[in-house]
Amino acid sequence: MNYVGQGLDRSDGRLKVCGAAPYAAEFTAPRMAHAVLLLSTVAKGRVRIDAASAEAAPGVLAVMTPANTPPLPQGGKAAVNPPAGRVLSLLQDDVVSYNGQPIALVVADTLERATDAMRMLKVSYTTADASVDFEKAKLEAHAPAQVNRESPDSARGDVAKALAGAASRIEARYTTPVEHHNPMEPHATIAEWNGDRLILHDSTQYVSGVKETIAKTLGIGPEQVTVICPYVGGGFGCKGSAWSHVTLAAMAARQVGRPVKLVLDRTQMFGPVGNRPRTEQSLRLGAAADGRLSAVHHGVVAETSVLEDWVEPSAIVTRMLYASESQTTSHRITKMNVGTPTFMRAPGEASGSYALECALDELAEQMKIDPLEMRLRNYAEQDPGKRLPFSSKALRECYRAGAERFGWSLRDTRPASMRDGRWQVGLGMASATYPTNRSPAEALVRLTPDGTAVVQSGSQDLGTGTYTVMTQVAADAIGLPIERVRFELGDSRMPKAPVSGGSQSVASVSPAVLAAGLAARSKLIDLAIADAQSPLYQGRRDAIEAGDGWLRLRGGDAARAESIEALMARAGQVIEVRGEAKPGDEKKAYSMHAFGAVFAEVRVDQDLGIVRVPRIVAAYGVGNLLNAKTAHSQLMGGIVWGVGMALFEETHRDLRNGRYINGNLAEYHVPVNADIGSIDIIVVPETDRVINPLGAKGIGEIGITGVAGAIGNAVFHATGRRIRDLPITLDKLL
Ligand code: MOS
Repeated sequence: MNYVGQGLDRSDGRLKVCGAAPYAAEFTAPRMAHAVLLLSTVAKGRVRIDAASAEAAPGVLAVMTPANTPPLPQGGKAAVNPPAGRVLSLLQDDVVSYNGQPIALVVADTLERATDAMRMLKVSYTTADASVDFEKAKLEAHAPAQVNRESPDSARGDVAKALAGAASRIEARYTTPVEHHNPMEPHATIAEWNGDRLILHDSTQYVSGVKETIAKTLGIGPEQVTVICPYVGGGFGCKGSAWSHVTLAAMAARQVGRPVKLVLDRTQMFGPVGNRPRTEQSLRLGAAADGRLSAVHHGVVAETSVLEDWVEPSAIVTRMLYASESQTTSHRITKMNVGTPTFMRAPGEASGSYALECALDELAEQMKIDPLEMRLRNYAEQDPGKRLPFSSKALRECYRAGAERFGWSLRDTRPASMRDGRWQVGLGMASATYPTNRSPAEALVRLTPDGTAVVQSGSQDLGTGTYTVMTQVAADAIGLPIERVRFELGDSRMPKAPVSGGSQSVASVSPAVLAAGLAARSKLIDLAIADAQSPLYQGRRDAIEAGDGWLRLRGGDAARAESIEALMARAGQVIEVRGEAKPGDEKKAYSMHAFGAVFAEVRVDQDLGIVRVPRIVAAYGVGNLLNAKTAHSQLMGGIVWGVGMALFEETHRDLRNGRYINGNLAEYHVPVNADIGSIDIIVVPETDRVINPLGAKGIGEIGITGVAGAIGNAVFHATGRRIRDLPITLDKLL
């Protein structure tokens, strides 16, 4: 490998900086009409809409309401397969089950006219008592059928007995709030029918998933649907499944006989497109006098909608992170009149590790054991839940490297003991982890007579660097200079790739690109051996190597080499090869996870309770890095979001009507530059021969995990105050 591992600049960086990378809403089509979505303002009831004046407004092409929307096969539920296939709101009936549900779509020749007409809709409701208060609803929680394809509950050993016999024990309840994804690019779809074929430009993490979902929902064949998405302005999970607006745009385009563009506005990002649900997490830990855990219980109650049993899997991380003699975990969900929650960066691990890492810190404090030492004493040498060895685990090295860089040994162990003027100073740490996932993927290489290659896989680039790293892998595999390789993705007609979710794109797609690239190299070698004009004519196939645009006889004389360009020019034809790669049985023999250690310094204003985070050091063991630069950016982005989760992010629900109150970027606070201090990222060397041929673990999500825990622990160390409810805002510290 030559390019793989290098910190190359993004191949799409220049396009993006110049504004030339087209995002979904930036495509256009002749006669394109514009649609706007109207969302409900009550949480439960039935809706009636008088559309007469809107329909008569200038430029209006269609007003779709529950009263006139054509019925879909199975009432629009044909594609339902939670959690990947959503129960959507497709105007099939007049029932409202949450505030923010789509209730009408107005299509006009311009966006302004559509918006204007939407305001003319006369909406009335018959309302019913809605369940929007988690504190009440949690009393009626139920067990979901499964959590991440595992049982919602787990048990080993006798936790009650171990707790009773523990030298020290703690019991605490933590909560995490509703949080909303706010990618720079909101959801957007352009739907265009060409006869009975549908073309969608959609901002999505899963082009082939949208294709399947929309085809099933509309009752047409998947081959009739094409989904195109060359660029995504951030997804973080909310674009991992097709929500109502995508199907509605397709239905509207069919109805008006014109292409239709539908873009959600920022406030609607807090509506029918998912969120991280509120969780309440009960932790009970018991330890022997030496600090080793004898009992762990982690019980989770989370919100879900009345439409779907979606589970925030917060206790899954507890099943594998630390060794303990006995352990129970449970997940319960409570159905409420809220929008269906969904995947949000490290669903489960982000929220669950906050509770687990704080609880462990509380126990360490009670036992007067250094928090880092506490984690080392409970180090899991193998996966304690699955009882399988880890394919690799460099967490010990992460603790060591992170602690050294951070200066952990200088920490005064007593809480509220360190000061800098009016600032109380605190140092805290936590573990980070995220599973290494992988799915089947396919890729294609097309070599042209000019000696360049186009490589395709129907994956997505969420802004993370997929284009760049796949170009690196392809160039190395084929043996071409990187500037002679163009990687394409984001089109459902390309070879199939999985959802860009679960941190799995690199682990899934790069082995397919590698396989296709190696197959192309093999074809080139065949060509040379069979070509009487080639210096490699009748050469020994296993002695020919490829790299940097040349085929060479290994150890042979310099004359026995030829450029791929010359070879392809003589061949004068296109060579197209496909490759595929899929996981084998390794998950049965190994537990596969990335790990890390996060160290945070906080400063808390003694009078005002303001929390600042001047410094974070984080060390990760994530296998091979395909591109050190994009990887660094990914991890840093996750850490920044972790700061947001710890200190700022929370969507407030109005308990009178179930509406999110702060559905905008002025009042839903995310960290900005001034909120972020120094972030120092260490990637420790780690070789993993099991997970995939590139030895690369996913890095999309691990960055957010452990950060809120480390900051919460640092706030305790600074102040002696334990804030168990995120976010840690100043009112809770005053
Ligand atoms: Mo990620 S929350 O799996 O898109």
